Amino acid sequence: MKRTGGTDEAKRRAGERAAEEVEDGFVVGLGTGSTTAHAIRAIGEAVENGLEVRGIPTSFQSRQLALEVGIPLTSLDAVSSVDLAIDGADQVVDTGDGTEQVLDRSDAGDGDLIKGGGAAHTREKLVDAAADRFVVVADPSKLVDRLEGPVPLEVIPDAHTVVADAICELGGDSTLRAAECKDGPVVTDNGNLVLDCSFGPLEDPERLASRLASIPGVVEHGLFVGRTDAAYVGTESGVEVRE
Ligand code: 5RP
Repeated sequence: MKRTGGTDEAKRRAGERAAEEVEDGFVVGLGTGSTTAHAIRAIGEAVENGLEVRGIPTSFQSRQLALEVGIPLTSLDAVSSVDLAIDGADQVVDTGDGTEQVLDRSDAGDGDLIKGGGAAHTREKLVDAAADRFVVVADPSKLVDRLEGPVPLEVIPDAHTVVADAICELGGDSTLRAAECKDGPVVTDNGNLVLDCSFGPLEDPERLASRLASIPGVVEHGLFVGRTDAAYVGTESGVEVRE
């Protein structure tokens, strides 16, 4: 069940709070989406005030915004480590009752994510996985008791029909993501297509993740299992921190 409260104000609070984690000298992974955009703007402001950081963008969109706000950029292959990655999500497992602000990774899967609403999950996973610390920024509308899809798959263009068949065999249903403002499909920053795959509520996200990863033609799936170090959830009045 999704919760309500997905206002831009809540997103801003989450993004700005995560940006406070950035320290002088950090290499920071810059995620994609409207919530992370608030973090990128806040980091830009800190840079203006003298903070020295280098950002690694996860998409064309985050690269453009980082350039606009003056964050010096680098790339994964030019650094020896990434100190922190800040990124948004489409669904975040949160089994707490609102008072319990811990990530219960043991069997509840707290902090497991579905990403890829912005078709950027391949580079996001690359950068987020490389980071010493991965922080998710979200608003309450993203919190779920259990992941329930759809799960985005980035697929190479020639493979979209065979991958769709493979999803059927796994008991799912897939839709080729269409571009909003023009005819034709969404094309990712890597020149690929996106299949949004529904499987109903996910009983075992880790197992599904390894099955999806093994389908030829799948570049990356949007399941992020067991990767989150902390989640900042912006609300109408503050920020809830899950560690
Ligand atoms: C992009 C993503 C985004 O982080 C996710 O879609 C959340 O976006 P927003 O903060 O705009 O709700 O995974 O691929």
